[in-house]
Amino acid sequence: MKNTTVICFTNNKGGSGKSTTCANVGYALALSGKKVLLIDGDMQLNLSLSFFDEEEVLEMARGPKNLFRVMQGTADLKECIRDTRYENLRLIPSSTLMSGIELQLLPKISREFLLRRALLPIKASGEYDYILVDAPPTLGTWVTNILVASDKVIIPVEASPWGLFGLANMFEFIGEIRGLAPELEVLGITVTKVSERKNYFKQTMETLSEMDTYIFKNYVRVDVNVEKAQDESRPVIDFSPRSRSAQEFTELAKEIDEKCR
Ligand SMILES: Nc1ncnc2c1ncn2[C@@H]1O[C@H](COP(=O)(O)OP(=O)(O)OP(=O)(O)O)[C@@H](O)[C@H]1O
Ligand SMILES: [Mg+2]
Repeated sequence: MKNTTVICFTNNKGGSGKSTTCANVGYALALSGKKVLLIDGDMQLNLSLSFFDEEEVLEMARGPKNLFRVMQGTADLKECIRDTRYENLRLIPSSTLMSGIELQLLPKISREFLLRRALLPIKASGEYDYILVDAPPTLGTWVTNILVASDKVIIPVEASPWGLFGLANMFEFIGEIRGLAPELEVLGITVTKVSERKNYFKQTMETLSEMDTYIFKNYVRVDVNVEKAQDESRPVIDFSPRSRSAQEFTELAKEIDEKCR
């Protein structure tokens, strides 16, 4: 029986690399023999699109077995689990209806705890080493659900002039969540979309190093293969195993795994 660790990838700053990191770290962990369940928590469906083609993703998103249906109370989370084409890697799809999730949650009792409760039987089954949740770029009741359901949070930050904007809000929000989930741990910040030659990469690293948070040593540089892989609904580690980003994501996954032990 496995001890399941739930990790979410959260940052209210859009485009910081949450979905890409979640997909590739998940795949790398699965490749290393870990049993991994991915949960697409975003109406943009980007995590689902990382593994399934558009037609399949839309069919899952419109169907009765996705995360929105679980939150609506008409589906069980376990019934929504889909196999991907990869061994050890499964996924719970999202829905475009997640755009209305805040209103959906509003009248519910204990509305911050719905995902945590839905996850209990999956955690108790001891089937997975890791459950990785991809969060949308918002800070509301839904992201609260994701954080409250998680053991650990990873914050992907883009190495860009605006990449650090909003990070203080993110930490303030996590501080408030601790009132509901005192055990929640910030595992660290992963720096994404790095161009080492640009000045603001240095500035980003300097600013981050002054913070009281772990910065993962393995940052990921900008690589055209990332988008090419996404276009084929595959993680870059599978699409182009020798590419720089594939190696960087693999090392990052190792670092995350070691830090979780
Ligand atoms: N290492 C990389 N090299 C090149 N492009 C990248 C890299 N990482 C991410 N991208 C691209 O940057 C964009 C944003 O990445 P991603 O969708 O993972 O961010 P996100 O934080 O999930 O965004 P959102 O806040 O909208 O959910 C995507 O188009 C993705 O293809
Ligand atoms: Mg995303």
